[in-house]
Amino acid sequence: MKKILSALLACTLIGAMVFAFAGCSNSLDEAEKGESKTNSAANSAAKSTDKSTADEAKPSKGELHMATNAFFPPYEYYEEDKIVGIDAEIAKAICDKLGYDLVIDDMEFDSIITAVQSGKADFGMAGMTVTDERKEAIDFTDTYANAIQVIIVKEGSDKVKSADDLAKATVGVQLGTTGDIYVSDIKGCNVDQYSKGNDAVLALTQGKVDAVVIDNEPAKAFVAANEGLTILEEPFENEDYAICVAKNSDLTGQINGALKELKADGTIQSIIDKYIK
Ligand code: ARG
Repeated sequence: MKKILSALLACTLIGAMVFAFAGCSNSLDEAEKGESKTNSAANSAAKSTDKSTADEAKPSKGELHMATNAFFPPYEYYEEDKIVGIDAEIAKAICDKLGYDLVIDDMEFDSIITAVQSGKADFGMAGMTVTDERKEAIDFTDTYANAIQVIIVKEGSDKVKSADDLAKATVGVQLGTTGDIYVSDIKGCNVDQYSKGNDAVLALTQGKVDAVVIDNEPAKAFVAANEGLTILEEPFENEDYAICVAKNSDLTGQINGALKELKADGTIQSIIDKYIK
């Protein structure tokens, strides 16, 4: 009887040690991940949301790195040190479906395509508009949202009252965006390129530029955050957003499969509705 008892005790002890050790190595893992600021933020945001039991049962296939530029509310922006927004949440839902851990890498908008081309990032998601020129460098998945380029001006501005007036104005844009591409094509337009959309908007509030051309949802967010700005009624260009992936990658089909399911079950719409009222 004593022998059995001590054997049981030994088993329990070994079990406890194994358990403690597993717990320990796990938290080391987390600490290592925490070294990269944006990554750990994205991961913890991801973890706290919708970890279903099904996901926990499946071992992860590894990480998928998403390249973005996180100054583009409501698609991607910082909440404290966490990157949140429509793109961040859709990307998380896609990765959950495919069995990957999502890591978000914040960078300049005009570095995203190069990062995806070179394999530094697995995909790019940044309210990115599908254009023929970009298609020469990367592949796009199916689209998941629509957008319109709009013109922000100071309230009561006489200088820019319509798109035609851009031809004799100084216009702020985010470098490398479609807004940048459109106004750069307008003869007589003086284009000021900024690395972030909010820097272009700041220049507008300071009277350094006469207008800013940017996507409608970030435009609304920037106008709400800055007094004395308004969006011109006349819409400028209609666009579709998609995820970019390296040319001829298997990931395109996998992401499209996940997107299809997430559209069908209403997940995409509910994420969009959460951020766009
Ligand atoms: N839709 C525009 C484009 O594709 C602007 C996107 C800017 N995105 C961002 N995350 N800063 O060029």
